[in-house]
Amino acid sequence: MTEEVAPVKCVGPEYRAEDQKPTATVSTVVHFDNVTVLPQTPQLIALLSIIRNHSTARGDFVFYSNRIIRLLVEEGLNHLPTISHTVTTPVGRPYDGLSFQGKIAGVSIMRAGEAMEQGLRDCCRSVRIGKILIQRDEETAQPKLFYDKLPEDIADRWVLLLDPMLATGGSAIMAVDVLKSRGVPEERILFLNVLASPEGIKNFAEKFPASRVVTAFVDEGLDEKNYIIPGLGDFGDRYYTR
Ligand code: URA
Repeated sequence: MTEEVAPVKCVGPEYRAEDQKPTATVSTVVHFDNVTVLPQTPQLIALLSIIRNHSTARGDFVFYSNRIIRLLVEEGLNHLPTISHTVTTPVGRPYDGLSFQGKIAGVSIMRAGEAMEQGLRDCCRSVRIGKILIQRDEETAQPKLFYDKLPEDIADRWVLLLDPMLATGGSAIMAVDVLKSRGVPEERILFLNVLASPEGIKNFAEKFPASRVVTAFVDEGLDEKNYIIPGLGDFGDRYYTR
């Protein structure tokens, strides 16, 4: 895999002449078959610009993060299986369409991942939600599993793993290990993420080649405290408390 630095690029719409498109820094390009980065549209870049801004107030941070989360959930659902399904319209004609196949569950990595639960519920009515709490062990500086509560039949479901920030990948990797230990096959795990570091993407994508990551943006890197840069700060603090 090679990483390319986040390019400053003209951002759509496609039909505009290049000199009439705004420029913005778009996602770092990563080359993993199991990573999907959302299209870098003007809308997504504008939403990200709001939540990245240090002076954005909590109410706006929540509102605009929720819009990005909704885009991630909608894209994530495209990666779940469907089967052909023909319906009859009110004018008596057939329409050859699709229907979703298989049961799903959301699993949030607490606390920031809980912010993504409503976006999933808004798209998937009465979806089962599980939770995993992983925190840094102060003695070893390694991620440690503190708590998990998962639907009983989790092994029979497709799992949408929810965490908005993928820094080193330690927590997400541990969460997938927990899911696998409960019988969820790696290929039925889809990780939805707002902002990733190239290191986090690489660690996760190489460890779980059969899982998929759907992210809105891969940033430049990590600072000495493992914050994503340029990043958006502490997602949980900004969403819940600040
Ligand atoms: N978690 C966050 O909330 N922000 C980061 O930059 C990294 C991890």
